[in-house]
Amino acid sequence: MTTPLLEARDLNHVYFLRHGFLKQPAPLRALNGVSLTINEGEILGIVGESGCGKSTLARILLGLETPTSGDVILEGRPVSSYPQRERALAVQPVFQDPYGSLNPSMSVEDLIALPLHVHKIGSRQERQQKVARMAEQVGLPRRALSASPNQLSGGQRQRVAIARALVSGPRLVICDEPTSALDVSVQAQILNLLLDLRAEHRVAMLFISHNLSVIEHMADRMMVMYLGRVVEAGSTQQIFAAPAHPYTAVLRDSVFSPDDDGGVPDLGLRGNFPNAMNMPSGCVFHPRCPVARPECATTEPFLTQAHDASRQNACLFPLN
Ligand SMILES: Nc1ncnc2c1ncn2[C@@H]1O[C@H](COP(=O)(O)OP(=O)(O)OP(=O)(O)O)[C@@H](O)[C@H]1O
Ligand SMILES: [Mg+2]
Repeated sequence: MTTPLLEARDLNHVYFLRHGFLKQPAPLRALNGVSLTINEGEILGIVGESGCGKSTLARILLGLETPTSGDVILEGRPVSSYPQRERALAVQPVFQDPYGSLNPSMSVEDLIALPLHVHKIGSRQERQQKVARMAEQVGLPRRALSASPNQLSGGQRQRVAIARALVSGPRLVICDEPTSALDVSVQAQILNLLLDLRAEHRVAMLFISHNLSVIEHMADRMMVMYLGRVVEAGSTQQIFAAPAHPYTAVLRDSVFSPDDDGGVPDLGLRGNFPNAMNMPSGCVFHPRCPVARPECATTEPFLTQAHDASRQNACLFPLN
């Protein structure tokens, strides 16, 4: 068996929030027993509503945050044992906000070249060539190289962020909602660009979105998260054909009625996304589940294998 590129084992993450001067800090369980693997060159999609823990997971996998417990293993070694520079050579992020992540006082060319400088890759001339080639691959016009990011559109800025993430040849790119700040018309272009770059550079991706149709387009395998837990995982195609968890089924059906602004579709579920500081008993999804039975309020389901080893779900009464 080949070693996965990245492996996360039983990640738990708790934030402590203080709600008043004299009150004890109260725990908020942002991640609860999350495990995953990403293999070379594959795209793993993560989907779930706002607040389910996607960005917390991304930050932990990037080594930007230390989990309360659990391990992240990068190419067979704990990520915590990597010097920051070495880790950055292997894993690069693309974040949601292309406005906040690019320093406006630098030119686009210098921004893209930054990882090459930091890692002392190539001569000055080689760096310039690499940057020009990368800019061309992400579809930036030549004249954009001397511009400030402030002079570019949101979509162009995200192309700069993607070029910067890929220029030093990482094995994994972690994309946290990379298109949700963009106009709907630009979103598809950026998604297709990422797919082309994956094919060209054979780079693996963790791709986070609250939009299941985006995950369907992008991911080879996917995980559905709810309140800090993984409730279903498996091949994207199989999950779309026959979701096992009622929450996945609701998300899938919402894909057929997307709202106009490309934001979070109305899932039509009872109640709102619950407060992570006050977890429901039993199955955490039961208060909103359209097919919950009395046992669901008292018995906690665990993520178990179903169908074959490649699929898992955490439901006492799976649909398929
Ligand atoms: N730095 C923090 N301090 C305290 N609580 C936090 C912090 N970051 C996240 N949380 C809480 O942890 C939970 C998970 O948040 P996270 O940002 O990971 O969710 P998300 O799935 O990325 O949401 P979104 O789709 O809105 O980006 C939420 O309840 C959030 O309020
Ligand atoms: Mg987030």
